[in-house]
Amino acid sequence: MSDWFDVGDAGDFADGEVAPAMAGGQPVAVFRIGEELFALKDLCTHGNARLSDGYVEDGCVECPLHQGLFDIRSGAARCAPVTEAVRSFPVRVVAGRVEVGMA
Ligand code: FES
Repeated sequence: MSDWFDVGDAGDFADGEVAPAMAGGQPVAVFRIGEELFALKDLCTHGNARLSDGYVEDGCVECPLHQGLFDIRSGAARCAPVTEAVRSFPVRVVAGRVEVGMA
C-alpha cells in the first residue's frame, strides 16, 4: 500500500525534463517521457547531488556531479561511477494532478 502525495499539475511537467518536488516530506525528482511520468528519489546513490539538477537523455538521467547515469523508469544504475540503483516511486495522474506513491 502506498500513500499518494500531490506533486503538481500534469501540465507542469514537460516532456524530456525533470522537476524537483516534495512527496511525503521526501525530495523526489519527477520526469516526463512522452505521456508517462516517473519519480526517483532526488539524491544520487554515489554522492550528494540532486538528480533534479541532472540532464535527461534517452530515458536516463545523468547526475550533475560525476555524470553517472540512472534509468528513469526503474532507477537502475546504467553507467559508472554509479553502481547502486536509486529508489523509484510509483506515479499516477488523478484528475489532472500528479501523485507520487510512498510505501
Ligand atoms: Fe552522482 Fe557522483 S554524485 S555520480
